[in-house]
Amino acid sequence: MGLANKPVALVTGAAAGIGRATALAYAKAGCHLAISDVQADKLSAVAQEIAALGVEVLSDVHDVADESAVRQFHQRVGDKWGRLDYACNNAGIEGKQAETHEMDMETYDRVMTINVRGLFVCMQEQIKLMLPHGQGAIVNLASIAGLVGFPSMAPYCASKGAVVQITRSVAVEYAERNIRVNAICPGVIKTDMVDRVTKQDPETEAAYAAFHPMNRMGTVAEVADTIVFMSLPQSGFITGQALAVDGGMVAR
Ligand SMILES: NC(=O)c1ccc[n+]([C@@H]2O[C@H](COP(=O)([O-])OP(=O)(O)OC[C@H]3O[C@@H](n4cnc5c(N)ncnc54)[C@H](O)[C@@H]3O)[C@@H](O)[C@H]2O)c1
Repeated sequence: MGLANKPVALVTGAAAGIGRATALAYAKAGCHLAISDVQADKLSAVAQEIAALGVEVLSDVHDVADESAVRQFHQRVGDKWGRLDYACNNAGIEGKQAETHEMDMETYDRVMTINVRGLFVCMQEQIKLMLPHGQGAIVNLASIAGLVGFPSMAPYCASKGAVVQITRSVAVEYAERNIRVNAICPGVIKTDMVDRVTKQDPETEAAYAAFHPMNRMGTVAEVADTIVFMSLPQSGFITGQALAVDGGMVAR
């Protein structure tokens, strides 16, 4: 994939999983990278991997729920490069699984604060950096859990449904100003998040794989490559979409 004149890409939650793979995919496509995460050591390792690819990298350790830290991070991006071309709002948590009548409200609040409010603040700052240049592409990590329901995950499903609707609303709002906004809705992708849920039990993993008509989990590379495509000019007429990357799960 060719990207001329080294655009600037930003990825939240870039220390692991889909975020790490996406940051590396943007770097391989020739972008400078701004990355953030709560895990300092892992983020620093990813920053080194990115720098080894010959692009500039700015990394910042903060929680996306920390509004002022998020705004300061984006300010640093503006100060360093004076622009932002692509942003992938990936940081998110699954929260505890419990039946709705037993779900604790701390889980509900934390999931909504990180997955929805945090993402919203990030988008506000990204749009401010994109508007002066009259272009930009934002890709938000929603989930198939934002398209269909899953038991014992109501707060997570609600948060990802909100990401889909924020994506559509903001896409329509800024379409004429050439800022595209899309959501990616992965199926089950083999990451730390999924390992925490399956406990890496082979029977549970097989059951998760069987959710998908392709009868396997997805890979972080399959999601990352889709995110980079949804950022590039090649997807220039696509905005406001919630694209399932799910081996056919929501098609059946
Ligand atoms: N893995 C899947 O099957 C799957 C499916 C659908 C959607 N998603 C979504 O994709 C995104 C990434 O998932 P993943 O599987 O790579 O997760 P992961 O837990 O493996 O990695 C998430 C990364 O985000 C960071 N992070 C978490 N909370 C943060 C916060 N408050 N502030 C900053 N960084 C934070 C973590 O430290 C970690 O590095 C999430 O939004 C998730 O909901 C994942």
